[in-house]
Amino acid sequence: MTSLKRYRQKGGNNRRKTALSSSQRLHQKETTLALFDQIPVPIARLDIYGFILEHNKLFSLLFGLSSNNVMKNLLFADLVATDSQKRVGEILEQTKNGSPNSTTILGHCIDSDPVWLKRGDGSNFPARVNIRSFIEGTKRNGRAVVIIDETPNYEAIRRKEQEKVDLKNKDQFKNEFVTIASHELRTPIQPILGFALLATQGLMPQDQAWEGVLTEARRLQQLANDILDVSRIDSGQLSYEFKNIRINEVLVNTIESLKTDMKKNISIVISIQEGTEGIEIEADKSRMAQVITNVVGNAIKFTEKGVIRIETQVFKDQNRFEVRVSDTGRGISADIFPRLFEKFMTKNHGDATTQGTGLGLYLTKSIVSAHLGNIVASNNSDAGATFVIELPISRQRETTAGN
Ligand SMILES: Nc1ncnc2c1ncn2[C@@H]1O[C@H](COP(=O)(O)OP(=O)(O)OP(=O)(O)O)[C@@H](O)[C@H]1O
Ligand SMILES: [Mg+2]
Repeated sequence: MTSLKRYRQKGGNNRRKTALSSSQRLHQKETTLALFDQIPVPIARLDIYGFILEHNKLFSLLFGLSSNNVMKNLLFADLVATDSQKRVGEILEQTKNGSPNSTTILGHCIDSDPVWLKRGDGSNFPARVNIRSFIEGTKRNGRAVVIIDETPNYEAIRRKEQEKVDLKNKDQFKNEFVTIASHELRTPIQPILGFALLATQGLMPQDQAWEGVLTEARRLQQLANDILDVSRIDSGQLSYEFKNIRINEVLVNTIESLKTDMKKNISIVISIQEGTEGIEIEADKSRMAQVITNVVGNAIKFTEKGVIRIETQVFKDQNRFEVRVSDTGRGISADIFPRLFEKFMTKNHGDATTQGTGLGLYLTKSIVSAHLGNIVASNNSDAGATFVIELPISRQRETTAGN
């Protein structure tokens, strides 16, 4: 049987047998109530079973109960939320016959968990409960319960704790970022040194060594730029220059320059929806080139044979420009798929040509989002992957539609 039920039963049976006459009881009640109404905190007197005998207005206000409701054969335990029932029940039991001067403070939320109390409407609030013997003259006469609403303290503490967690996560994240970034930056330096050394010692043809140095130096430059961009994005300091740009031209030019560096025998097919060749969208030109480089660059990197198709379409009534990049490679590995757009998420095919840092798609997604657009990836049913980038034609229309 729960302590609550036991109280109620005992109380129900025994309360009728109290020795006081009804006029004495009434007098006592009035005296206590007069005293309570001068006390500026919610207070109630309980009998030994935990029934509420008297309480002040602040008490009923705190619980959102009308006086009558509180008075009606109510146990203090009825005002305690389920989670704190056991804790409060034990204290009520312990203080039942406690020494006259002892005060038990339960649930000071600065150094312990608050007690959760229950309002009349069923909502809970954190509180500190002070229980003390109620003395009349020299006689102990039940217990006084004083409630301190801990809501403001509790919220302040929770906020502080959350801030601490956030700060710790941020710190941890920064450390991780610095560790990975410096490791990644070191990776192309070794081969640059190696090529230079081999060439100076005559162990490698000069032109071959220069080509190696050039490739690795470009990689290093790309990496340094990516890392700088990531840190700017994370600190909210990446700024964009939004202008009306001919996006299809940016796309074609960017892909042309990717093609010149491509050492693979795969074809790249661009198809632009008829009549939309000159479409202008409000975007940052160099950031758009970066997005296309990353997505088409990945398609080239992860495709050994076949074709890469790039299609663009305009949905004027939806204020939308769409780029679809589809390849015939191995497709995106299932194990990284759910976290594809996260920082440093990379998976290569175990060779030097597919190596990367895993910043490309993170940057791409951030840039597309800053343009109020979206990017999604999927694996094709036959072979390869498809990335779809959606961008608003006018950012203005997008923000007004979103409001
Ligand atoms: N077209 C694609 N086909 C198959 N896998 C892909 C494709 N595009 C991306 N991926 C997978 O997603 C991962 C993350 O791509 P992302 O561009 O962010 O990093 P990365 O290419 O490895 O390195 P970085 O772009 O920084 O040089 C890749 O490592 C790869 O495993
Ligand atoms: Mg990439």
